[in-house]
Parts: sequence; C-alpha cells; structure tokens
Amino acid sequence: MTAVDDSHLPAWIQRDDGGRLVADGVLLESIAREFGTPAYVYSRRAIEQTFAAFVAALVGRDALLCYAVKANSSLAVLDLFRRMGAGFDIVSGGELERVLFTGAAADRIVFSGVGKSTVEIGRALQAGVRCFNVESEAELERIDRVAGDLGRRAPVSIRVNPDVDAATHPYISTGLKRNKFGIAHDRALAAYRRAAQLPNLSVQGIDCHIGSQITEVAPFLAALDKVLELVDQLADDGIALSHLDLGGGLGIRYVDENPPSPRTLMDAIFDRLDRWRPGGPPPVLFEFGRALVGNAGVLLTRIEYLKSNGEHNFAVVDAAMTELLRPTLYEAWHEVVPVQRSTAVPTHYDIVGPVCESGDWLARGRLLAVEAGDLLAVLSAGAYAAQMASNYNTRPLVPELMISDGQAVQIRPRQSLTEIFATERML
Ligand code: LLP
Repeated sequence: MTAVDDSHLPAWIQRDDGGRLVADGVLLESIAREFGTPAYVYSRRAIEQTFAAFVAALVGRDALLCYAVKANSSLAVLDLFRRMGAGFDIVSGGELERVLFTGAAADRIVFSGVGKSTVEIGRALQAGVRCFNVESEAELERIDRVAGDLGRRAPVSIRVNPDVDAATHPYISTGLKRNKFGIAHDRALAAYRRAAQLPNLSVQGIDCHIGSQITEVAPFLAALDKVLELVDQLADDGIALSHLDLGGGLGIRYVDENPPSPRTLMDAIFDRLDRWRPGGPPPVLFEFGRALVGNAGVLLTRIEYLKSNGEHNFAVVDAAMTELLRPTLYEAWHEVVPVQRSTAVPTHYDIVGPVCESGDWLARGRLLAVEAGDLLAVLSAGAYAAQMASNYNTRPLVPELMISDGQAVQIRPRQSLTEIFATERML
C-alpha cells in the first residue's frame, strides 16, 4: 500500500512518472527549492478556466460576475479578473483601493459589508462605485448624510436577510435572522420606503447573500423566491429596481462535496427568473469568490519532524494556522498530498504546525507515507487561505506564487522580519 491518494488533485496538478507532483508543467519540489516553504501556489490557467465556465453559463444573459475580493485579494489575482472582464464585490476601503490599483473601473464595483465607516463610504462615493449593498437602516442614514456632504447621490441596494438556511457551517452562514447580515426580510419594505425618501440616495437594486460553501441549488432558489416576492411588493409600492444582486456562496469540492456546476446553478436561477418575468429580468449581479479561486491554489509545506506520543503520530510541518486558518476555525477538511512518492511505512498522522496552540493543526488522522524533510501539498488553498493569514508568533507572511505560461511567478515575496518591525515603535 502506498498511501498516496491522488484522487483529489485538481486538474492542473499531476504526478509524473517519477512520482513527483507537477503543477501546470512546473515541479512543485523545484518551486519549494527556489522560493522556500511554506508557500502558496496558484494556477493562472485554473482561474481562467473556472471563470470561463461561469461566463459560458451566462451567455445571452444580462449579468455581471463581481468577483468577491475577500476570497483572494492578491493584486495579481485581481488583475487577472479585471482582464477577464469581471466586476468586483468589496467589503472594505482596503479592498476598494486594491481593485482600483489594478486599473479596474469603479462602476463595476459593488460595496458590501455590515460596518462601512464614514471614511470608506466617502471614498467609495468619490471613486464612483456602482452600488452600496446596505446592511442596516442606520447605514442608509449614514450614506445619505455622507452623500449630501459630498454633493452626490449614492446608488444603493438593500441587502435582504431572507432567513433561509444555507445548510453550511454556522460561521459562514449569513442568511439567517440570527446572523448579523442584512436587513430582515419583514423590515425590508419599510427600509426601502425610507431609502426612497432620503434625498441623497438613489435606489438601484436588491441584494442577497446567504452564506458560503453552499453545495445545493435549493438554498439559492429559496432565497431567490424571497427576493422576488419583495421586488414585486416594491413594484406595487412604486419602487422599481434596476438590478438584482444574488450574492455568491457556491461551494467547491474539498473532499467529497458535489456542488452544482456553474451551468446547473445558473440554469436553475435563470429558469426561475424567466418564469417570474417572461420579458427578461433586470440585470443580475453575482458575487462569487471561493468557487472561482478555491481549487486553483495549494499550500506547499515541508515536514520538519515526525513524532509520536504513543497514541498519536504527528507530522510537524513548517506551515501553520497562520497560513491556513480554516481547519481550526471551521474544522474544515483540506486534502493533504505528498509531493513525492516514498517507501516510508504508511502511518496516520495529525498534521500540525509550529505555532504554540493546540488548535494549530491543518489536518487530522491522515494516512501518509512520508519522512521528515518531505514536501506536502495542502489542496484547495486558493480561497480564504493567504487572505486569513497572520503574523502570530512573529511568523512572516509567506510567498504567493502564480504559475503562468509554465513559469512560477512570485506575486508576493516572503515578508521579512525587518518589514514586520518597521511599523512598530518602542516607548
Ligand atoms: N458576498 C458577500 C456579501 C460575502 O459576505 C461573501 C463571503 C461573498 C460574497 C463570497 O462568498 P463565496 O462565493 O466566496 O462563498 N472565511 C470563510 C468564508 C467566509 C465568506 C464570507 N463572505 C471560509 O474560509 O470558509
């Protein structure tokens, strides 16, 4: 038994005849040699192919795919999406500046988020974003005030919380009443009436995002029904909307999930929309993040030590919760694959990092044939990995590489300790 299970490798990674993993034509071990570990490795081709699948699923539809920047906000990744014609969904002033830095047009940006500051709102208004997705009655008043001060009219949608169960991890479910997101469905009508009265707001659309890593079509349709019901009520009230923003949340396969394909999801959504408005619905926006980049990245890490305490075997690797927080935060499963084949005895390991926390683990109880010094690829690390990293234990941020045209390009170098210290002051 070799204990090498390659069945979860994404299409852009294969094992060569020598048993070594090759990513888009580049040996992962040579990337590790050149750039060190830990390191994130992304595939430009995989991102482009996934985006193309969404575009193909939307042919003939009046739709804009706004890439959810939070999933992977590297400038190189954002620039790829800009070149492919994506819009962007942002949740902070920092994300706004990142997107603008790539040269993207502000009128393709929607601004979501539950706690937009006065400064962030002002800057987004000046930049000319397409729409604010407003998450509370108080935010409506604030945007109106800031817009008035700047002599502008702010385009707004209300993010409706439809109270629909996305059937996902509680930390990444957002569309239930107990979640902090959006304005409750039964209060939305009143909020729209108020928005329509405010002099510096221009009501544009409606927005709904119910959670992340959703692997069924049904929750999307349940939320859509709630949204459409509200749009009809608003029309009766004389409030006409010019777009629908149906959010993001489509899941990916980490291990054995079977999320709908972009085509299946889009066909189901547009089928419902066509029956609702046979003449064609207003333009539809989407805010997908994970589904576009999640399986286009891996985290490369090297085994520092193998150890056993009798009951448990540990592979202590050089990556940690600081580079991949998802396992400990959501008990998320990421496949772990040896980068080379080995004749070592297959053994069950907990794969843990150097950080001084018992919660610092990347995977548990995995059968691996490995030795100290071996490289591992932690799969599905293209989304919510590098972006959730921290400097805890004074661990510098690790490099991000993108394979483009058969070459590994360093899109962010390893952070140095000098850079970390540069921002700090002693008394
Ligand atoms: N739009 C809004 C308003 C959102 O809050 C999110 C994600 C998205 C779009 C994109 O969702 P996606 O298509 O990527 O599922 N850190 C967690 C995921 C948090 C998602 C937060 N909101 C994780 O690692 O699973």
